Amino acid sequence: MNKIDHLGIAVPDLEVASEEYRRLGFEFLGSETVASQKVDVGFFKVGDARIELLAPTADDSPIAGFLAKRAPGMHHLCVEVEDLDATLAAYKREGVRLIDSEPVIGAGGHRVAFIHPKSTSGVLLELKEVATKAPQSP
Ligand code: CO
Repeated sequence: MNKIDHLGIAVPDLEVASEEYRRLGFEFLGSETVASQKVDVGFFKVGDARIELLAPTADDSPIAGFLAKRAPGMHHLCVEVEDLDATLAAYKREGVRLIDSEPVIGAGGHRVAFIHPKSTSGVLLELKEVATKAPQSP
């Protein structure tokens, strides 16, 4: 685990929530639609980590389900890993409950996988693979 990459916050309306975070002084970095999760994402800078505001783009989006069952607020924590396949393989051996047993493509085109809150003391955990540096040519 290298560092916290971002905190995901579920919101019903990305424009309204983005305006709220701008007013609080968070620097807006951009937005993106993530097809695999059916969400629109707004990115805000917090040092070298981010806050991601997540709004559903469809009724069967995981974020739509979260908002219907709970309320707007903290949705998940994302940490960086170097080798997602190896991490998932180790978790499977340990009996960790996975939501994604194989990596999926998340925001920014990164390989990610979600771990079930039943195995994390109640916090949805996202693992994000960060490409290791290419070897320097001689
Ligand atoms: Co995320």
